[in-house]
Amino acid sequence: MEYGPAPESQKEAQAWLDQRGRKFGLFIDNAWTEAGETFASTNPADGKELAQLTQATAEDVDRAVQAARRAQPAWAALGGPARARIMYAIARLMQKHARLFAVLETLDNGKTIRETRDADLPLVARHFYHHAGWAQLLDEEFPGHRAVGVVGQIVPWNFPLLMLAWKIAPALAAGNTIVFKPAEFTPLTALLFAEICVQAGVPAGVVNIVTGDGRTGEAIVKHEGIDKLAFTGSTEVGRLIREATAGSGKKLSLELGGKSPYIVFEDADIDAAVEGLVDSIWFNQGQVCCAGSRLLVQESVEERFLKKLKARMDNLRLGSPLDKSMDIGALVDPIQRQRIHGLVEAARAEGCEIYQPSACEIPAEGSWFPPTLITGASTSAAVAQAEIFGPVLVAMSFRTPAEAVQLANNTVYGLAACVWSENISLALDVAPQIKAGVVWINTANQFDAACGFGGYKESGYGREGGREGMFEYLVPVSEDARPALPAVAKSAAAKPAAASSDPFAIDRTAKLYIGGKQARPDGAYSRAIHGADGTFLGEIGEGNRKDIRNAVEAAHKATGWTKATAHNRAQVLYYIAENLAARGQEFADRIAAQTGSKTAEKEVQASIERLFYWAAWADKYDGAAHQPPMHGITVALNEAIGVIGIVCPNENPLLGFISLVAPAIAVGNRVVVVPSEAHPLTATDLYQVFDTSDLPGGVVNIVTGSADELARTLASHSDIDALWRHDGSAAGCAEVEKLSAGSLKRTWTGGAKGRDWFSTQQAAGRTVLAHATQVKNIWIPYGV
Ligand code: NAI
Repeated sequence: MEYGPAPESQKEAQAWLDQRGRKFGLFIDNAWTEAGETFASTNPADGKELAQLTQATAEDVDRAVQAARRAQPAWAALGGPARARIMYAIARLMQKHARLFAVLETLDNGKTIRETRDADLPLVARHFYHHAGWAQLLDEEFPGHRAVGVVGQIVPWNFPLLMLAWKIAPALAAGNTIVFKPAEFTPLTALLFAEICVQAGVPAGVVNIVTGDGRTGEAIVKHEGIDKLAFTGSTEVGRLIREATAGSGKKLSLELGGKSPYIVFEDADIDAAVEGLVDSIWFNQGQVCCAGSRLLVQESVEERFLKKLKARMDNLRLGSPLDKSMDIGALVDPIQRQRIHGLVEAARAEGCEIYQPSACEIPAEGSWFPPTLITGASTSAAVAQAEIFGPVLVAMSFRTPAEAVQLANNTVYGLAACVWSENISLALDVAPQIKAGVVWINTANQFDAACGFGGYKESGYGREGGREGMFEYLVPVSEDARPALPAVAKSAAAKPAAASSDPFAIDRTAKLYIGGKQARPDGAYSRAIHGADGTFLGEIGEGNRKDIRNAVEAAHKATGWTKATAHNRAQVLYYIAENLAARGQEFADRIAAQTGSKTAEKEVQASIERLFYWAAWADKYDGAAHQPPMHGITVALNEAIGVIGIVCPNENPLLGFISLVAPAIAVGNRVVVVPSEAHPLTATDLYQVFDTSDLPGGVVNIVTGSADELARTLASHSDIDALWRHDGSAAGCAEVEKLSAGSLKRTWTGGAKGRDWFSTQQAAGRTVLAHATQVKNIWIPYGV
């Protein structure tokens, strides 16, 4: 059977461009500026120019930020229900103009009309509806929270309008105002959206849209009037943004690249898995951050699977994106084509086999790449590791489920994964073992506004969609109540150690605590610790880089803790509390001697209470079962992050330590802790408490010494998954945020402000749990 051409009309979209003179200014304060210096946006399918867009300067960005700042208090004060009405109007208008948006998106981006019409636009409308709902329920469902303020949002070109919806809808619902930048390749639907905002009654200054390339993005990132940045794009730019915002106090969410595994077990429904793979890697020409670009197929079915896959590839139709019967459209820009071509040719030169359907005709004009399958690549080959961001699949085989998991996790990324098996027990066993924010079981590329989306590892942090996505645009009001750092009581001059008649006292140097054992510091240095009155209290080991490395290694080995039941973890926390209580007076005396505190006993009691508190939470921080519009469920799991580095506050050396370590381990993390630099002996006294409380070795590792030096090492260590720093050093917090960009670890820093560690609002609750976990959404369709 031959397909005839089935083009969608572009008349309306072209007329829209004509009416606006094919030249656009910026949308600031609900008005259009005169066009400034401009650049062209072209149709990737034929290389023809569509319109000229303004390259926004730093001054333009400043004007947009100021407009957003002016508008923010009134927008927040309007209240959730009134914002919900406006967002509902946006959703309705998007549906009403869906065809115009779909065609304009296809013209500007090159993706097929089938996708813009059937996937992008319905999801965009769904996002605004869903978040109109969150606006409505804001006070009830997010009590004690306020909007962040002015948010800067920067998106890529692969889903221009969908990414706009993912960013703008939750920000509006929460009461923020926005400076939004579309990608330079695909700005047109964002400008059409600006018109929708006016029609829907969005007040002036609430949504501002500035066009331009990375320079405009940089101006947004660096603007001091921005309170939060939300970025989707390349990992490389994500890193730059993390570095540029270090120490600024800006809230940050990053949705970055991926190299997602697509795992097919021998008992999978092979035909369905082939079809899912078409959707996974050839949807949007493979220009999808969560594309299933690494096929891992069980050896026993490899040959059969690849044969069927090639046959399916032969039937894929590539051509005019406006043709309703096309599967594959144009790449966004010739520069992408060159990049993809370079990677594929390098693989060919390395001896890989490249399969491309021979019948696939490439149009003479525009930027195109045929569907491509690469076999014979080594696991370390560039095509197996780098995000190709094109219609290129790399296939490998495995023998056992354990090997599949190992290969799946052999990447710096962790955005998504697919698992295909008719054995639900196997699929549900594998899904939690994959380090990725989304796992699709027997399906692929499913998205919904109710289900959070976002990455693990170098795929970034933060979630878009769902309840967790709303938290990205909110701040607990308790953060506003944080006190200034307590004034450090001036210690008396250090007195020398008194001569001792006890010959064994000489070695009373508190050692480090690594892997459940006391360890001498690698550098064989120690430092004297004096009390508030100058009395010599003892010595501690001066930990160094090597000690941190050993501690991280021990923490990584303690995987049993993460796999242990939450009930078990709670038992251990209760036991620690019990053993601490038994030695309460001793700890109170130690705190008083170190800090001169008059409330040391209160601190010990609060620490015991806090251990009970986190033990209580250990088995109650449940995830959720979402009901997206499909036949199935999406299970949101709150998973431990992995290994967390923790730099403790100096004030309240026991309560500060417990308030950070207990929640981290309650939910299954293992930690490497740098206790209070000024008063570390409380932490070293805890070793025996831990030893007698059934805490497995390696779950809590303690390295004493210089907070700055040890924090630096933790922040640069690529095997630390998150870093918390709360010792009141603004410069130190900025430094760890900057260094964290290397492996994109999550950070939670206190900056130069203090925290009332006695207050459950400021030092406990779900906000802390959110820092200690990452949400994984597992999609499980059934009955299909
Ligand atoms: P990109 O990360 O450079 O661009 C994304 C957005 O960031 C655009 O709006 C751009 O103008 C802006 N931007 C660029 N430099 C910036 C800076 N220094 N500060 C602030 N904003 C900045 O991605 P690009 O160049 O479009 O694509 C390059 C590669 O990145 C692709 O081949 C692909 O591998 C990857 N990519 C991944 C995406 C994902 O969703 N995972 C999306 C887009 C690209």
